[in-house]
Amino acid sequence: MRIQIEKLKSRLKKARSLVVLTGAGVSSESGVPTFRGADGLWRNHDPMALATPEAFEEDPVLVWEWYDWRRSIISKIQPNPAHYAIAELEKRYAEFTLITQNVDGLHLLAGSQKAIELHGSIWTLKCVECGNSSENREVPIKILPRCSCGGLLRPSVVWFGEALPEGALYRAFEASSNAEVMLVVGTSGVVQPAASLALRAKGAGAFVVEINPEETQLSGSLDMRLSGKAGELMPTLL
Ligand code: OAD
Repeated sequence: MRIQIEKLKSRLKKARSLVVLTGAGVSSESGVPTFRGADGLWRNHDPMALATPEAFEEDPVLVWEWYDWRRSIISKIQPNPAHYAIAELEKRYAEFTLITQNVDGLHLLAGSQKAIELHGSIWTLKCVECGNSSENREVPIKILPRCSCGGLLRPSVVWFGEALPEGALYRAFEASSNAEVMLVVGTSGVVQPAASLALRAKGAGAFVVEINPEETQLSGSLDMRLSGKAGELMPTLL
């Protein structure tokens, strides 16, 4: 592992452009539950079944209760050393892009400025009627929240079956295609199109490294795997 870290550090030193792609694992040491794995259940509901437009249409109160629970957890916690290490890496590269699937806002709290929030933010709400969106940090939130136009407000996050924000996705693919090094941190690599960004970078010649305590669907296709926790490994790359 030590040799691998040294090899990666020397790659990072030489690189001009760096892309970091993150998933829920980056926030797990802060105390945010991941989606898959042992802590992936909420009141016996599968988060995957709640994060859909159909679930919201059918039972907006239930979906809002789940988001309110997540917002209340996230509001009380802090970024961890992985978030801070990523914010520090940003300062060292002329070309740097952070692409996160996380909606918790912890990267921004840690000081990251060039973050593409591919799946939106749990702190932004949008109206299902007029489409207006605005920041809302109320915890607990009054269920069901309403827009000034009277329409129902929903979290401004991307649910299963929904398209990703076009501009964000375009910038993410662009950055991935131009990366010299990409770090893929704390993602199971099963949700598309986010997972395919790693393969895009690899296909375009980047040195792509996975940082995750578990093997993932991406593991076999990348250049290096550092097996361990993001909060422990990321600071060693600085
Ligand atoms: P997952 O919950 O699918 O995967 C979390 C990954 O983090 C797993 O591979 C874990 O092994 C790894 N992990 C856990 N603890 C870690 C640690 N301390 N350090 C590093 N890695 C760790 O989360 P995502 O891949 O982010 O989408 O899931 C992708 C998307 O699926 C999410 O953005 C969300 C979900 O449905 C939406 O809500 C649209």
